[in-house]
Amino acid sequence: MPAAEAAAVPRPRRPLPADEAPAAPYLTIGAATSDDRPVRIPLETLRKHTAIFAGSGSGKTVLIRRLVEECALQGVSAIVLDANNDLARLGDRWPEPPAEWGEGDAARADDYLRNTDVVVWTPRKESGRPLSFQPLPDFAGVADDPDEFDEAVDAALAALVPRAKLEAKTARAHLGQAVLREAVAHYGRRGGTGLGGLIALLDDLPDGVSSLEGAPRLATEMAQHLRAETISDPLFAGTGTPVDPGVLLTPPEGRRARVSVISLTGMASDAQRQGFVNQLQMALFSWIKRHPAGDRPLGGLFVMDEAQTFAPSGTATVCTQSTLALAAQARKYGLGLVYATQAPKGLHNRITGNAATQFFGLLNAPAQITAARELARAKGGDVPDVARLRSGQFYAAFEGGSFTKVRTPLCLSHHPSSPLTSEEVVARANRS
Ligand SMILES: Nc1ncnc2c1ncn2[C@@H]1O[C@H](COP(=O)(O)OP(=O)(O)OP(=O)(O)O)[C@@H](O)[C@H]1O
Ligand SMILES: [Mg+2]
Repeated sequence: MPAAEAAAVPRPRRPLPADEAPAAPYLTIGAATSDDRPVRIPLETLRKHTAIFAGSGSGKTVLIRRLVEECALQGVSAIVLDANNDLARLGDRWPEPPAEWGEGDAARADDYLRNTDVVVWTPRKESGRPLSFQPLPDFAGVADDPDEFDEAVDAALAALVPRAKLEAKTARAHLGQAVLREAVAHYGRRGGTGLGGLIALLDDLPDGVSSLEGAPRLATEMAQHLRAETISDPLFAGTGTPVDPGVLLTPPEGRRARVSVISLTGMASDAQRQGFVNQLQMALFSWIKRHPAGDRPLGGLFVMDEAQTFAPSGTATVCTQSTLALAAQARKYGLGLVYATQAPKGLHNRITGNAATQFFGLLNAPAQITAARELARAKGGDVPDVARLRSGQFYAAFEGGSFTKVRTPLCLSHHPSSPLTSEEVVARANRS
């Protein structure tokens, strides 16, 4: 069994049968301001990613939430990165039906909340629902199949080599990687679980594990590096639920979809957030390859707000490469990506350029307005009055279509004007 699946507690289940889910594979996203007809986006369109360019007060958060909610109503689960504590209310009911709701929205909100399992995760916040990245797969589960066992060892090596500082093209790294492989295979064959045991094994490498000269010395050094990593990065082999996209995207029995909100509030610096998102994206990539959407119009949704902090147009971050790899490949496997940013100029052009669906909302900064108009022109349109749009008003362009001004619907879950505090996010993590 591959590493990314190893920690899966529940096996991915199929979504509810079609007759139990609402029928049309469409998202109703807006109503054209001119004639009030809602814009219907075929779910399949979201396989080719979506970009939302909109500044403060534009209605960006409301739009993101309604997209996630409408997908959930169609049985599509989502992973939502919450950078600003404004998405962790996706499971909250409005205290009163808002006046801005359209016809049928009250019933849709009820349906959404009843049938969607919203789980708030809080990496690096132990008091909430922490997550961790486990470098070692479940070797016991693959012990009987030599090919799967080898694959599991490969996956472990991929996760451990950079952490053990064995990436360089040096003679030491060359020998070290071989010793690590022998040690991991030895540990796995003996039913070892957990990084702690492997570190102990490396610390005092028994005779016969490796045939290489000097192996015990190399192994001790690796053990030191791995131990240091567990200290500096609490997510690495930490105590939280192992990140498993299968868990994040699979509803429990009786629910139509799961919305996994991953709060970034426990990670203060951009570097911490980027490191986390990088590992998450790598896990997601290897998972979708093994669990493509197949004949479903859309297999899942991955939503990244403040996308410019993860894949900026300037200097690359640790997660630029995995972001671009997902942006290029996810469509093939049916995972829809939604990128939102207040800074169209600040987002990597391979993301902006390739988004089949684009929304432009109110922008204020002249540099961002210019960048937005350039992006729109590249798609054969223009967004001339993007600085005068009201909140909830967007220019939308769908694959091959022209730019249309739409009024987006209010979200179905509670969205007051102030974001949650970190304590309130943690409370929701414990409630879900
Ligand atoms: N589609 C809509 N229908 C009705 N009201 C809306 C809509 N979109 C936004 N609003 C109103 O505008 C307010 C701001 O919207 P939202 O929180 O989505 O803005 P934002 O662009 O995310 O801004 P921020 O910079 O505050 O994060 C909402 O609280 C709501 O009152
Ligand atoms: Mg917002």
